[in-house]
Amino acid sequence: MREQLLAAEQVRAIEWRDGALHLLDQRALPFEETWLSYSTAAAVAEAIRDMVVRGAPAIGISAAYAVVLAVRVRLAAGGDWRAALEEDFALLAASRPTAVNLFWALNRMRERLERVKEDDVALAVLEAEALGIHQSDRDANLTMAQLGVELIRKHQGNLQNLLTHCNAGALATGGFGTALGVIRAAYLEGLVERVYADETRPWLQGSRLTAWELAADGIPVTVNVDSAAAHLMKTRGITWVIVGADRIAANGDVANKIGTYQLAVNAMHHGVRFMVVAPSSTIDMSMEHGDDIPIEERAASELLELGGKRVVGEITALNPVFDVTPADLIDFLVTEKGVIDRPDTAKMAQLMCRKRLH
Ligand code: MRU
Repeated sequence: MREQLLAAEQVRAIEWRDGALHLLDQRALPFEETWLSYSTAAAVAEAIRDMVVRGAPAIGISAAYAVVLAVRVRLAAGGDWRAALEEDFALLAASRPTAVNLFWALNRMRERLERVKEDDVALAVLEAEALGIHQSDRDANLTMAQLGVELIRKHQGNLQNLLTHCNAGALATGGFGTALGVIRAAYLEGLVERVYADETRPWLQGSRLTAWELAADGIPVTVNVDSAAAHLMKTRGITWVIVGADRIAANGDVANKIGTYQLAVNAMHHGVRFMVVAPSSTIDMSMEHGDDIPIEERAASELLELGGKRVVGEITALNPVFDVTPADLIDFLVTEKGVIDRPDTAKMAQLMCRKRLH
């Protein structure tokens, strides 16, 4: 199945070519496919903040490549370049607060750098590290896709109607996708009737990105407003909600795109299974509970304007873009280290001790 999945890997959002980072501009999708090139860490930090690239693993991978760009610039400038690099790390770390993959990737790059003593090999070593982070995310996607499909097959046969939220696909990762990786694989295995994609207000990751990715693969997809989800669970025979994650706490609480929490509550009420798919780089064992996870709030204009035109009067708006789903609402957590059901502190600790599968 792995080969079949690899063959189905079509969309790419991140490329490292000719010593530069190339990002597919996700703000312009689905109507324009524009690639932007980056050669400084500051420019990549801005791209992350402005959502040229988004999705937890994709942000982490981009930040890793940004460190390579920073090392090149700082080395060329000479002097105490390692000290100067701290400015780049700080800038990248400040780009977005919730997805822990960003901090995980920066830590990994920093640790690798600390082990390189000779300046003349530092750039090559860090480039290899960033490429390794990118490749291992692709591999993790494939492993999780296989594990997720096994769960669907085991718990429900025949054709499934699935519901997903935000975009946890190729655009959000280094490869095939997390939640969408499972959905793609389930479709290839003949298990999917239709995918319902929450539009995901206000940035529309669902209707602009997820629907685009699934339609490109010929997977039957229908877009719905976020507030239709409970109604669809009741009337459209939805059997699984499958989502990604931005940060998972040590007790299994999951931060993901705003609206995920209410999906989990609704899924439990309707007997719909709830699956979270995320690589272990999304797990933050330093956060005891989900309540400790920093929740990003973005500009009110994302709510108050449509297509650049103001549609709300002079009223304040609150725009938290993530929420936390309590662990006891989650049926399965799928990672590249394996699957746990009903995550809790003990199961999470055991999971993190495991090696990656495949
Ligand atoms: O604000 P975004 O678009 O970066 O949020 C993305 C999400 O919430 C995704 O569901 C999550 O990062 C998982 S991506 C594999």
